[in-house]
Amino acid sequence: MTTTQPSIRRHSNPVTVVGLGPMGMALAEALLERGHPLTVWNRTSEKADSLVARGARRAVSVAEAVSASPVTVMCLNNYETMYGVFDSTDDALAGRVLVNLNSGTPKEAHAAVGWADERNVEYLDGAIMVPPTLVGDPESVFLYSGSQDVFDKHRATLESMGDPRYLGPDPGLAVLYNTALLEMMYATMNGWLHATALVGSANVSAVKFAELALGGFMPAVVDPAFLLARAPDLDKANYPGDLGTMEMNLNALAHIARTSQEQGVHSGQPGLMKEIAEAAVADGHGSRNYLAVFEIFKKGAQAR
Ligand SMILES: NC(=O)c1ccc[n+]([C@@H]2O[C@H](COP(=O)([O-])OP(=O)(O)OC[C@H]3O[C@@H](n4cnc5c(N)ncnc54)[C@H](OP(=O)(O)O)[C@@H]3O)[C@@H](O)[C@H]2O)c1
Repeated sequence: MTTTQPSIRRHSNPVTVVGLGPMGMALAEALLERGHPLTVWNRTSEKADSLVARGARRAVSVAEAVSASPVTVMCLNNYETMYGVFDSTDDALAGRVLVNLNSGTPKEAHAAVGWADERNVEYLDGAIMVPPTLVGDPESVFLYSGSQDVFDKHRATLESMGDPRYLGPDPGLAVLYNTALLEMMYATMNGWLHATALVGSANVSAVKFAELALGGFMPAVVDPAFLLARAPDLDKANYPGDLGTMEMNLNALAHIARTSQEQGVHSGQPGLMKEIAEAAVADGHGSRNYLAVFEIFKKGAQAR
């Protein structure tokens, strides 16, 4: 029996990629695989060798690179580098599209829109939510925000790199979502790593602990379906404490901090969580449930 591979849609619209670090290389490879005539530029020119061997064109200058295609996808290390690199092109980018896929802050994304407007560049800000190995997979999420017109017109090209999601006209949204989602990832990883170090202080191996922690406990306690059902409560600031109060949770956090100290394990992380819960109690949320720490986080934002 023969198996049929899903066919990859082929494109004929030219694209330029500027920046061939690990992520830029993955973007260039995905675009090449889908048939886009590809022009590339990178400060360290040799990084383009394997792409050129597969049919990409190597530009000798950024101006030549952006002139080769109506759309340039850039993936440099930061916004400062973007300004340095593209300001060398004079007006070669004018009237063309620049899709920025490097990470940054909302403030930087807003400033980039002003920079692009001054140069008559159609600009779209984006963020990549997957590692280089998953670029090109139709399920790999790429976030975009800013000009819906640019997003809609070039959606097919964006689909060659992953699953493009448009978040709204505020250009800072893509990088803001990106950092928020990364924060969730780091906080979850740190929870698992610290807990593993805690039981490790009694010579329990990471593998043995993972069976229970990740096999049964984690899905039951931080089940995404449960959190999804609680999201409306956050919008309404509705924190009924009938099944457990902030005071009770503060006790649990104090136990974790004290146990960490007793066991000789780093106690900064549980100490910080305890401080946040203490602030919630001090603010009158003691009889509400744990989700009321959201009010403490928001208050920090208002005070900014
Ligand atoms: N890698 C990932 O897993 C991942 C995942 C999601 C998002 N991202 C984001 O994607 C962006 C690119 O990441 P990356 O992993 O490819 O590596 P990176 O180290 O962030 O960026 C490397 C690229 O920046 C260029 N560059 C750095 N300084 C430069 C300068 N002064 N002038 C000109 N070019 C300069 C490098 O050129 P040379 O080759 O000449 O050094 C290379 O093309 C970052 O914003 C990152 O946050 C990365």
